[in-house]
Amino acid sequence: MKRIFYFILTTLGALVFMYCPPPQPPSAPDAGLYHTYAEINDELQQLESTFPQLAKVVELGKSVENRSIRAIKISDNVAGNENEPQVVFVGGHHAREWISVDVPFLLAKYLLENYAGNARIKNLVDLGEIWILPMLNPDGHQYSVDKNRLWRKNRRNNGDGSYGVDLNRNYSYHWGGPGSSGDTFSETYRGTQAFSEPETQILRDFINNRSFRDMISFHNYSQLVLFPWGYTNSPAPDAALLGQLAGSMADSIFSIHGKRYTAQQSSALYIASGDATDWLYGTTSVPAFTLELRPRTSSPGFLLPESEIQPTFEENLPASLYLIEWSLAAAPVNRHP
Ligand code: ARG
Ligand code: ZN
Repeated sequence: MKRIFYFILTTLGALVFMYCPPPQPPSAPDAGLYHTYAEINDELQQLESTFPQLAKVVELGKSVENRSIRAIKISDNVAGNENEPQVVFVGGHHAREWISVDVPFLLAKYLLENYAGNARIKNLVDLGEIWILPMLNPDGHQYSVDKNRLWRKNRRNNGDGSYGVDLNRNYSYHWGGPGSSGDTFSETYRGTQAFSEPETQILRDFINNRSFRDMISFHNYSQLVLFPWGYTNSPAPDAALLGQLAGSMADSIFSIHGKRYTAQQSSALYIASGDATDWLYGTTSVPAFTLELRPRTSSPGFLLPESEIQPTFEENLPASLYLIEWSLAAAPVNRHP
């Protein structure tokens, strides 16, 4: 009787042991097919190693939490300064807008991987300097991966229990105006002063040290191609040109997967002061666009399924190429910094 009892006990013990899964190592938070900060850095580095003549990664500075903010320069003889027309693509102002990081990153990868086999790509890489800065807000992005998927701002400690400045309200042109907030807890908190944040200072200095002919700043969502002004409903001095470029980009996007992106003045979405495109255009007259990527509507909103990364990149590729080619042909703008 005793033996049977022990037999049952040990068998039960063995079964319990067998059915207890071994403890799992804590899984690192991950963004699936979207690129995290670490993955973007790795992959930019890999692109530089694979294409040393064409790609150079440049460290521009550090975020509030000391993460590196990097850009990749793509051009023939990339190490030299050939005084060629320069174009810049920026992503990741807003933490939760993951697709806004992956689209410019995939553009860099595409240009490099297709240089050898595609005469059109070779031509624009040979004749221009294409700068891609995929993640301007690495702290916010990491926080969105680890803690709060819908985080928007950077991770500035405002000192009153609130965190974050809206980087796209922190630029100097009409800083502090309507569509930005002085409330530190607000999603559109503009910061204590224009360019109070290292992230916006980095983009400012990067741009002011060069001579760009145009810029796309990627965001999502809404499917829009926006052009200045954003701070006022009045038309910009170059509204006709800006509208034509935005319209052509929207048409080329539509031609790929039939997704309608609407070209309009930024203020028609809503008035907002202190954004990157108003600053660049307002201080230098360089055409600058906010490209609001997929989806169109609040469902799924910021939670764009990862199956849409590739098609979103594909439809934005011809628009980006169009703008690069326009800058190769256009006369440089008379800058008035
Ligand atoms: N979603 C972007 C933001 O809120 C749009 C900025 C475009 N500018 C504007 N004034 N509407 O920062
Ligand atoms: Zn945004």
